[in-house]
Amino acid sequence: MVAADNLKPTPKQAHFDLITYLKERQKLCEAALEKAVPIRYPEKIYEAMRYSLLAGGKRLRPILCLASCEMTGGTIEMAMPTACALEMIHTMSLIHDDLPAMDNDDFRRGKLTNHRVYGEDVAILAGDGLLAYAFEYIASHTKNVPPERVLQVVAILGRAVGAAGLVGGQVVDLESEGKSNISVETLNFIHNHKTGALLKACIVCGGVLAGASEQQLQRLSRYAQNIGLAFQIVDDILDVTATQEQLGKTAGKDQKAKKVTYPSLWGIEESRKQAQQLVESACAELEPFGEAAQPLVALAHFITNRTY
Ligand code: FPP
Ligand code: MG
Repeated sequence: MVAADNLKPTPKQAHFDLITYLKERQKLCEAALEKAVPIRYPEKIYEAMRYSLLAGGKRLRPILCLASCEMTGGTIEMAMPTACALEMIHTMSLIHDDLPAMDNDDFRRGKLTNHRVYGEDVAILAGDGLLAYAFEYIASHTKNVPPERVLQVVAILGRAVGAAGLVGGQVVDLESEGKSNISVETLNFIHNHKTGALLKACIVCGGVLAGASEQQLQRLSRYAQNIGLAFQIVDDILDVTATQEQLGKTAGKDQKAKKVTYPSLWGIEESRKQAQQLVESACAELEPFGEAAQPLVALAHFITNRTY
């Protein structure tokens, strides 16, 4: 949920009530997600999928997708199935990331991790189930959108999730663990793929569903690239500065795992500055959209000012 003290709107968007906006959007997304994955036989797998999917979280990815669809002339209804699918994919990546074979984590979103509750076998399958269902859900539930746009969304998302995106980023991340000589280029590669690719897909898919022009999609893509990296820099900072209660997951993990991070390369202050600059570049891309860009501008600032 949104804590008011995390939000410091800049004077430029002071009249946009981000707290209310986020609360409303989170509620819409929660309701849609709850409906999207009902429990059926075999109950165990649906329960495991729902356990992680409905465990809270900021719902940033679906909210970004809805916002970019609306900004480029579409509706919430057009983007909601894709928004839900994005959260399913994000959740599955976290379930697998937390497995003993990867980060071996015990807490996520303030609760025990999926494998700690259901066992490794079911957790792997819950991730697989969510991934497959995400694509089925877009194809079967998207309404009032021309089919060629839906097809484009499926292709963008498939690429963002596979070896060219999330999976590729995770592989380089795992390979880099324990190595102290990781360059900033490798670090950028990891994050542009592991975190950036899906964030970019959220924002670009929103535009595609709305029928945005190629030029608009380019702007959305550059906005997304910048906030994706800013998001990760802030994540690295929070791993050092925030508590487990604030994060809902173990804090201080990067240092413990001897991971090279932005704060370890640049220090906390410089990392904050870099994140701020990226957010400013991101927002500059949205200037031609005028007032309609307010939610995405505010969300970009939220990403750097968040404390969780
Ligand atoms: C969290 O990173 C993990 C990710 C952002 C994605 C990990 C990707 C995979 C496990 C691949 C999943 C497979 C498919 C098919 C998508 P982190 O460990 O740095 O952050 P944390 O502190 O939140 O765990
Ligand atoms: Mg992890």
